[in-house]
Amino acid sequence: MIGIPLPVVNVEQKLWLTASKAFVTIPCSSLGGEVQEKMADVEGLTEARQVTVSSSPAPGQFHIKGCAHLDWGMKNRLSRIIKPDTGRTVMLAVDHGYFQGPTSGLEVMEETLAPLIPYADCLMLTRGILRSSVPPGSQVPIVLRVSGGNSILSELSNETWNVSVEDCIRLNVAGMAMSIYVGAPHEHQTLAAFSDLIDAGYDAGIPILAVTAVGRDMVRDARYLALASRMAAEMGANFVKTYYCEDFPRVTGTCPVPIVMAGGKKIPELEALTMAYKAVTEGAVGVDMGRNIFQSDSPVGMIKAVRAVVHYQEKPESALKIYKDEKKSSGINNKKRAVTTSKKK
Ligand code: R5P
Repeated sequence: MIGIPLPVVNVEQKLWLTASKAFVTIPCSSLGGEVQEKMADVEGLTEARQVTVSSSPAPGQFHIKGCAHLDWGMKNRLSRIIKPDTGRTVMLAVDHGYFQGPTSGLEVMEETLAPLIPYADCLMLTRGILRSSVPPGSQVPIVLRVSGGNSILSELSNETWNVSVEDCIRLNVAGMAMSIYVGAPHEHQTLAAFSDLIDAGYDAGIPILAVTAVGRDMVRDARYLALASRMAAEMGANFVKTYYCEDFPRVTGTCPVPIVMAGGKKIPELEALTMAYKAVTEGAVGVDMGRNIFQSDSPVGMIKAVRAVVHYQEKPESALKIYKDEKKSSGINNKKRAVTTSKKK
């Protein structure tokens, strides 16, 4: 059961997440204990019951969960991202620079992207990188980050919608992505901007990806991630990006639209593959992974291995072999190239 400690001080609302023993602190000067006691709707809050999860639709239905009643354009764009043949997706997240500048592995975007694009089902990036560093002849679908206005030097949640839908149409994107900062200081600002984006997305027929749980102090447990993901879906998100956690089926099972797993910080390859494997077997439709691909010592090996896990249920250990084989062969090819070059001199 979720217990709300009362009375609450005037300067902040504390939502006690009982099971996780974690606090999400929401600064809110206008919400005092007196006001909160009148909020009858929070009194009967009980934990969601355990649910069984399935990312596959019933036979004959549209292949993407929760999207059967969308318009043709929405379905077509979503199908470019989440593939109809497997119902899964490997999105490559390379949007990190929008708030943290040149990120390790993303220093020169053309160099990072060129070898990876053939293996990505979709790229998630900013319009600056799309225009400057992705060949327009490329057929890879784009999920464009349309939020920003923050930086690693300040409060991360101080973010807003910053790309027009007109520009998204001009860029022929398949989806638009925005972060929502549930439980952070600028929660309301990001949720309000998100609502406006959802309206604009439906007007244009462009699906919206909600990015949840980004932030320095976010408690990334099932209760918080289920809260943020479900809120995003309730507000109209067509798919949701969130982190893997213990009891992940609670997150995927209570979200009516597909979930893609964010990779998080770089971890050893086998661990990242295991996390992706668990995520898709526990209800995610795929990954939207960045650092665990482009910061690997073999980015191509890693994305190939992730594809095997996500699309073909390869076990992490055998997927690791795909990564190792690719690393070995590219090492040999690099050596050959070096020899050829030095002979030419
Ligand atoms: C974060 O705001 C960005 O959307 C990243 O794309 C996201 O964190 C996924 O990348 P990674 O797998 O590196 O965590």
